[in-house]
Amino acid sequence: MTKPVILTGIRANNDLTIGNYFGAILPMIDMANQKSEAYQINMFIPDLHSFTTPVDHTLLYEQILHNARLFVAAGLPLDNDDIHLYRQSYIPAHSELTWILDCFTGFGEMSRMTQFKDKSGTLGAERTSMGLFNYPVLMAADILLYNAKYVPVGDDQSQHIEFTRGIGERMNNRFGDIFTLPESVAKQHEFFGKDQGLRIKDLVDPTKKMSKSDELGKGVIFLGDDPAVAAKKIMSATTDDKAEIHYDKENQPGITNLLEILALLRGKDLQQTIGEFEGQTQYGEFKKTVAGEVEQFLTNFQAQLASVDNAAILAKLESSEQLLSGTANATLLRAQQAVGLRPEGK
Ligand code: TYM
Repeated sequence: MTKPVILTGIRANNDLTIGNYFGAILPMIDMANQKSEAYQINMFIPDLHSFTTPVDHTLLYEQILHNARLFVAAGLPLDNDDIHLYRQSYIPAHSELTWILDCFTGFGEMSRMTQFKDKSGTLGAERTSMGLFNYPVLMAADILLYNAKYVPVGDDQSQHIEFTRGIGERMNNRFGDIFTLPESVAKQHEFFGKDQGLRIKDLVDPTKKMSKSDELGKGVIFLGDDPAVAAKKIMSATTDDKAEIHYDKENQPGITNLLEILALLRGKDLQQTIGEFEGQTQYGEFKKTVAGEVEQFLTNFQAQLASVDNAAILAKLESSEQLLSGTANATLLRAQQAVGLRPEGK
């Protein structure tokens, strides 16, 4: 019997951030460590997605391998046959299914995607590529090819999960059962034990998401940051003039973000962390606590990273890619048959 699939991907367009770590890597690794008996775990690097926004292509290949190392440093086990680690571009079915799905996706539908609107707004028309526009369709192919049921992602990707369900359902309604749909975002949150998606905010501008593609990076904690420098970024994080700590996203977004980061770093319940600091007036002391935790976390993480076995990672990538090509090609064939590109029943 095949096991239900939990799948997630993280682009290799820059060093990863604590947002990527807590939004996607850690939930996935917890699943890999707790649930690989009952589920298949697909952790992958969407390398074709990496240059939907401009990157330095001379660094890309190394960055892709670096991402794989980060997953292992975060605790992804390599010696388990139900856990897979692979690169999107090594399984050509991703690109092929994308084209088919593209032809059933509306231009208007893609234009309304929040992330496309945000990123194209920042890049401007000349630097906005067709790849950026098309990105959610490639993401849908990533998910549908492996019949994934649960897809741990940060809040910014929820709209793309709903799109995946939408395009999958549309194809199934028109052509019969081709795809297994991922669960709705609400059901995914239930499964991962959260009431909403995570969105760590930028430290300088806490009204926007902490993003690895941020060109200045002053408000971003990267996993590769010097721990002392990261602590300084926390100490200079934007707060407010209310002079009292409250968890209030609307009026105190900076303080609220730091409370969330602290709870995640300590692996503790958010309410407990809020209870500890609520009403206190010393922002400096509070920041020092968060800065100390960040410094400790990065020091430990970087020590783990230095000890990963590169040869074992490469071997895992290659064996997963070979194995999962079989699943991906089987789904692609169903889609090709459905739209009339291949004869039925072969
Ligand atoms: P990407 O590479 O931008 O981000 C990787 C993951 O990190 C989460 N994330 C955050 N979570 C909380 N707070 C933040 N500040 C924060 N910043 C990023 C993202 O939500 C994401 O889960 N399109 C995806 C990659 C992808 C994918 C897929 C994911 C491609 N195909 C299929 C799942 C399934 C992306 O660009 O994520």
